Amino acid sequence: IRRIGVLTGGGDCPGLNAVIRAVVKTAIREYRLTVVGFENGFGGLIQNRARDLTEKDVVGILPRGGTILGTTNRDNPFHYPMIINGQKVFKDVSDRVVENINIHNIDAMIIIGGDGSLSIGKELFEEKGLPVVGVPKTIDNDLSATDQTFGFDTALNTATEAIDKLHTTAESHHRIIVLEVMGRYAGWIALEAGLAGGADVILIPEIPFSMENVIKKITDRQEQGKKFSIVVVAEGAKPVGGEMVVQRRVEDSFDPVRLGGIGNVVSYQIEEETGMESRTTVLGHLQRGGTPTAFDRILATRYGTGAVNLVMAGKFGEMVCLRTPNIESVPLADAVGEQRLVPVDGDLIRAAKQIGISFGD
Ligand code: F6P
Repeated sequence: IRRIGVLTGGGDCPGLNAVIRAVVKTAIREYRLTVVGFENGFGGLIQNRARDLTEKDVVGILPRGGTILGTTNRDNPFHYPMIINGQKVFKDVSDRVVENINIHNIDAMIIIGGDGSLSIGKELFEEKGLPVVGVPKTIDNDLSATDQTFGFDTALNTATEAIDKLHTTAESHHRIIVLEVMGRYAGWIALEAGLAGGADVILIPEIPFSMENVIKKITDRQEQGKKFSIVVVAEGAKPVGGEMVVQRRVEDSFDPVRLGGIGNVVSYQIEEETGMESRTTVLGHLQRGGTPTAFDRILATRYGTGAVNLVMAGKFGEMVCLRTPNIESVPLADAVGEQRLVPVDGDLIRAAKQIGISFGD
């Protein structure tokens, strides 16, 4: 092994640069390899946009959010969008990936990504025989084969800080504040930030909620003299039955209510039903930006060095993972396609319920 390639795919995530830095340093210092960085995820592999990465290129990037290589969640080589005769069609261009890897004499490719990018990595390994090694990334922390993905801890801290700030304004104005956080399928950010920030209600995709129960929690608090409440909602949370119909208490002449996102819907309904003022904050991409926490910098560094060690051990088609306290590896085939959801009977939910947090169930 003399030359390795690296790319970052999918949504960005704090700690990507820390992984790149560790890959470059380990490869050059320990194994005297050349590292080639492909730009903008799989787009760079398809369009042959690449540059050598030296130790100079990674100076100062450890605490920086984002990725110096760029990323995108488009550009799947097995399903690549093209315009042909004015029509959008999807083509398999994976042979171009193989060509470009050969052009650069790449002996192994490190793919840093979430479920989508790692699935592409698995396909490149299985279908095209490319020597691929994966690194698990996502702020959602929903990859089943690792105890933790890097980026989650930073997103969790950002969300917790937001709840702390929202608490003081909610309390001053006697309002309900609904914070919508990321998490389409798994409620890890909502659950852990809600616990850390002292939320009163936490709504997650794993536990369908009833609006009645949410309202009850809020009115119970009101009766106890607590005139504000904090509700944390994961973007993928759903009411029992799967859909939430917003109901107006009083008909008026305005257009039907136009509400984007579950946070707004829940907030609107709380105001309608309790008569209390309610406001929504959608945290959005603030959760994905900024400098990684110490925990994520360390985990990302260990994943980066671990990935190069996997390459040198010839363990292709594998992904580095955390099996606390060690960095180990697992076949990509066992790592992708299965979400790690919040266990509804698990210790975290039990503890949250024991201190009075409502999940609306
Ligand atoms: O998968 C990570 C994630 O942050 C999800 O929680 C969120 O739904 C999604 O990315 C947002 O993606 P985009 O930046 O493409 O809108």
